[in-house]
Amino acid sequence: MARISYDQPTADAFKAVREVPRDGLREWREAVRRHLQPSPGMTLADIGAGTGAYSAAFSDWFGIDVVAIEPSTAMREQIPRTPAIRVLEGDAAALPLPADSADAGWLSLVIHHIPDLEAAAHEIRRVLRPGAPVLIRQGYRDRYQPLGELGLDGVEIVRWFPETARIIDTFPPLESTLAAFAAAGFHPQALDQGRYTSPLSLAEFLAQVDTLRRADTTLRGLTDEEFLRGKERLRRAVEQERAGAAEHDRSNWLDLLVLR
Ligand SMILES: C[S@@+](CC[C@H](N)C(=O)[O-])C[C@H]1O[C@@H](n2cnc3c(N)ncnc32)[C@H](O)[C@@H]1O
Repeated sequence: MARISYDQPTADAFKAVREVPRDGLREWREAVRRHLQPSPGMTLADIGAGTGAYSAAFSDWFGIDVVAIEPSTAMREQIPRTPAIRVLEGDAAALPLPADSADAGWLSLVIHHIPDLEAAAHEIRRVLRPGAPVLIRQGYRDRYQPLGELGLDGVEIVRWFPETARIIDTFPPLESTLAAFAAAGFHPQALDQGRYTSPLSLAEFLAQVDTLRRADTTLRGLTDEEFLRGKERLRRAVEQERAGAAEHDRSNWLDLLVLR
């Protein structure tokens, strides 16, 4: 059971505002290329593929085949169907793939939804060919510099809505993630910090934030009062920008953990 229900309104909101524009992913593209070393004929399993933003990006960027595995029907229906993307219903702990059938695994912002990460790691080990990498895109609270009392200053949503740190605090930290994958025989190969910078303005972000709340686990965990306080912070920042008094950073840092 995921932390939030990925029902139709959530899937629609996710598709509308949570897919990161490709323009903002240049650094991620190069980081993934470095670790994946894509070659024609390679098959990547995108586990918890959501609306398929990364499935589509990887098949377009690298010319590889992707199996997009996603438990929510509403999310799955949004995944683009192309000859290079196979879309399957499935869960990280029960992958609909034969043993030794994939050349890489990708999990983006999924591990906090998986109830038994060690069981999932064993299942991922089963479907990956020996030596194939698993790439995990995630934020870990034990990797960020504290910002004041609450914050994780690399994550934009935490900069405007500091109480979201309370929800991130309940996500699996890096240490337990490494332990779960080690139990399944995976060894860490790399831990890179990856940045994406949204090409949208802060005013555009403010205009989207109510929709974003429907599709984001951390914003959904806030009280209405906490959300409105953050929105007011954002509104004031947009006014500052309009007056030329400040320019606010739209970058976000997450980790790319690579294991084999
Ligand atoms: C925050 S979304 C990320 C979607 C996509 N990976 C991305 O980065 O755009 C989390 C996704 O994980 C899926 N999910 C939830 N529980 C899961 C599980 N146990 N196994 C695999 N996927 C799961 C959800 O249905 C949802 O689509």
